[in-house]
Amino acid sequence: MPALVLLGAQWGDEGKGKATDLLGGSVDYVVRYQGGNNAGHTVVVGDQKYALHLLPSGILSPGCTPVIGNGVVVDPAVLLSELSGLNERGVDTSKLLLSGNAHLITPYHTTVDKVTERFLGSRKIGTTGRGIGPTYADKINRVGIRVQDLYDESILTQKVEAALDFKNQILAKLYNRRAIEAGAIVEELLTYAEQIKPYVADTTLILNNAIDEGKVVLFEGGQGTLLDVDHGTYPFVTSSNPTAGGACTGAGVGPTKISRVIGILKAYTTRVGAGPFPTELFDKDGEALRTIGGERGVTTGRDRRCGWFDAVIARYATRVNGLTDFFLTKLDVLTGWEQIPVCVAYEIDGKRVEELPYSQSDFHHAKPIYEMLPGWSEDITKAKTFSDLPKNAQAYVKALEEMSGAPISAIGVGPGRTETIEINSFLS
Ligand code: IMP
Repeated sequence: MPALVLLGAQWGDEGKGKATDLLGGSVDYVVRYQGGNNAGHTVVVGDQKYALHLLPSGILSPGCTPVIGNGVVVDPAVLLSELSGLNERGVDTSKLLLSGNAHLITPYHTTVDKVTERFLGSRKIGTTGRGIGPTYADKINRVGIRVQDLYDESILTQKVEAALDFKNQILAKLYNRRAIEAGAIVEELLTYAEQIKPYVADTTLILNNAIDEGKVVLFEGGQGTLLDVDHGTYPFVTSSNPTAGGACTGAGVGPTKISRVIGILKAYTTRVGAGPFPTELFDKDGEALRTIGGERGVTTGRDRRCGWFDAVIARYATRVNGLTDFFLTKLDVLTGWEQIPVCVAYEIDGKRVEELPYSQSDFHHAKPIYEMLPGWSEDITKAKTFSDLPKNAQAYVKALEEMSGAPISAIGVGPGRTETIEINSFLS
């Protein structure tokens, strides 16, 4: 049975929760491999809507073991509050597994995140302010705090002191802020240690064994391809690797074990935070996409920037992730437009460019070249098969598939759990 990676093909918020949920019943493990509580999955189960930030969406499927891999950064306070929120609604969270190697987001990481953004002024990234970047920076600088450190007070104290030595100089001297006291941080972290302990496990061993035993393991990326620190629109990116390779490093599973890589692709494009976005709309169409699509961030509550579908980006996602399939989401949002523009290439300095330019400067002034596709006005939310879709909606999907470089194997036609057309099973 397969090990699948499911990731965002654009700038995040493509509707990954719904895709994971579609597979939920047949999946044994759902694994987050990067990011932290900057992510936001909305999962609709029956008449209940759940907004998850840190926990893998598999937490809502009773037969599934949710796993937070080593590549994730974990704010322990958020973890515990998200768990208790679910427990209050009757969701059993006892199967959760948390890698002892995952790094912890502490209050000083969130402080540094917010202070740095303020300091950057107009050059700010527009981060979620959750301490993600500073925590990954500490990991790479080898001054991070890991989950396992919670169980050795002396090591924890030494590590927090080492991390704060440098940070306090910056906070006090550069940002004019009060220094943060190591003792108070250690004390706070220790209050979480016992509550988290039952979940801590050697997740790479468990996951590799599970794959070898033929279990279905789903690696769920947070954010999206264009927010990847290596392959995204740097520096307007997150600080981890949502792309497919990140599933291997962030969960401790080799690339030979991955059988399928599914890109979640919205039928139009959205982005939150700053950075280039060639098909962004500033007119009533953009406003309509935002309103009809409910394009407001699950995590930050910020309005998402909206624009038409960009096939250059979709092709790029196919390339850097080795996508085997797409899951096209939110097709229903486009119902009602007479014609739908789709960006097929860019114009850069008077030249037509088919592939995403590697040069940041070029991408910043890339102008979309649009092709107009005929729209449809029929309600598509009840469609169960591809042939139930109006002819123009079918043609729109087929055109996107051709331009994007991988088959579209499922289509989201409404927000509910069952409002999905499955074309090829992801589990075959
Ligand atoms: P950070 O991940 O908080 O450091 O933010 C870096 C950039 O990634 C900002 O532009 C955020 O808006 C964006 N970002 C982070 N998480 C998400 C997400 O789940 N969906 C969409 N954008 C995100």
